[in-house]
Amino acid sequence: AGQAGAALPLAGRRVVVTSGPTHEPIDPVRYIANRSSGRQGHAIAAAAAALGAEVVLVSGPVSIPDPAGVTVRHVETAVEMLAAVEAALPADVGIFTAAVADWRVAGEASQKMKKTGAAPKLALVENPDILATVAKRAVDRPRLVVGFAAETENVVAYAKAKRQRKGCDWIIANDVSHATGIMGGDNNTVHVVTADTVEDWPDLPKTEVAARLVARIARLFQEDRP
Ligand code: CTP
Ligand code: CA
Repeated sequence: AGQAGAALPLAGRRVVVTSGPTHEPIDPVRYIANRSSGRQGHAIAAAAAALGAEVVLVSGPVSIPDPAGVTVRHVETAVEMLAAVEAALPADVGIFTAAVADWRVAGEASQKMKKTGAAPKLALVENPDILATVAKRAVDRPRLVVGFAAETENVVAYAKAKRQRKGCDWIIANDVSHATGIMGGDNNTVHVVTADTVEDWPDLPKTEVAARLVARIARLFQEDRP
């Protein structure tokens, strides 16, 4: 494209990103959650907006600020996160970085549970899989669906299996066996698993992982343009 007509590469594209943990209430004062700062997902949302995309960021509870230039939907639970994602469709791209709690408590208590001397037994039910639900939609499936996979062993092999099981296009896998540096940290070492390739990216700041990922997505969409 020439100078004057050089629109930003993701101009006119809609991108939905999930980020952060979900909180699954046990009672009004307690919850189950995963570790997640939201930093990688928020950085991806910001990077997509910087390339001109219209971005909806569906965020669980995090302590970092909303990125500029992005529509943010704040949610607490996995069920709420799925509803907010579906409400944001149709989109060209879905990027699912949230550390969604795999289970919620069946029948959360409406009043604070009191100690009785016998620890309560919590019955758990599996949460909806937001990534798989969107990736397997018959209607309004984003053209590109990207999942993340934090693994502690067999990182690429598990990521390949996860890509197939979930029906997504790419999985960004990272090794969290030394999790103190990654969860909540500045850097990320990822492997980008596509249908037929695996790219090993170097250890990079999360902002740089985000920039490279959205640049790679932009290339995919630009290949379509005349
Ligand atoms: N994910 C999701 N909804 C869920 C669980 C996971 O959208 N209820 C998404 C995550 O955002 C991530 C991908 O699925 O993009 C992989 O998450 P992960 O926890 O690694 O996958 P699980 O299928 O939950 O498998 P595991 O048993 O390894 O936790
Ligand atoms: Ca999980």
